[in-house]
Amino acid sequence: MASVGLPGLMRREARMCQQEPPCNVREYRFLGEGEEEEEGGSQLQPELVVLIPEVLDPQYGMYVWPCAVVLAQYIWFHRRLVCGKNVLELGAGVSLPGIVAAKCGAKMTLSDNAEFPQCLDNCRRSCQMNNLASVSVTGITWGHISPSLLALSLVDIIVASDVFFEPEDFEDILSTVHYLMRKNRHAQFWTTYQVRSADWSIEGLLYKWEMECICVPLQSFEANKEQLVGSFLPGTHTVEMMVITPKKVIL
Ligand SMILES: C[S@@+](CC[C@H](N)C(=O)[O-])C[C@H]1O[C@@H](n2cnc3c(N)ncnc32)[C@H](O)[C@@H]1O
Repeated sequence: MASVGLPGLMRREARMCQQEPPCNVREYRFLGEGEEEEEGGSQLQPELVVLIPEVLDPQYGMYVWPCAVVLAQYIWFHRRLVCGKNVLELGAGVSLPGIVAAKCGAKMTLSDNAEFPQCLDNCRRSCQMNNLASVSVTGITWGHISPSLLALSLVDIIVASDVFFEPEDFEDILSTVHYLMRKNRHAQFWTTYQVRSADWSIEGLLYKWEMECICVPLQSFEANKEQLVGSFLPGTHTVEMMVITPKKVIL
């Protein structure tokens, strides 16, 4: 069983927002060049500040998890890749990665469990706080081929931070990703995973669902630090970044 804690409490004081439910608003500041500029390529925005309201509630999806900061940094570092793309965040909670992608020009859809309306409210609150009126928010429960999943337009990049925390859900997550990759064979799944047990693995499921995975070294996108983007996360947690793609057919 994954541990549930309030990592936000260990971080620097945040502003309270005058909303219901009561929230702490935290600032995340992204700086730096990012991936190497292509010759003649357009200028990348040099800085981004996003505000994320976190609910004072110890449940999943109410505050930013260590994995979210790492995935958000990956998106920021590769912001050229998300600009103009259809990006879907699964299990978004307070949606730091999705908000960063939207601010970098992605056509963004945020999703969380259709049965957790409070998490969908968190997604909406994060959009409002960052003036992102065009971002869609929808209920997508992993493993369910629901009307909301069927209604999505082709997704280019699926992002998800800290969704592999209950082994019984791993196959549901990958079956949802597989469905989206069947619609777009060029889709990629960018996900961060917090190492909680050496016994957990998705390797067999990737084989079953015909996907392959590369683990991206954190230093390659400047995320090999205990403090990132002005936050005390990821701290000492071990976080891995994976890029999952449909398995290439070798003829
Ligand atoms: C550990 S939290 C991570 C939240 C956020 N991605 C982050 O990293 O800060 C897991 C998220 O998955 C969502 N979730 C849990 N079970 C789900 C399911 N069956 N389908 C869709 N989302 C689910 C939770 O509501 C929660 O937002």
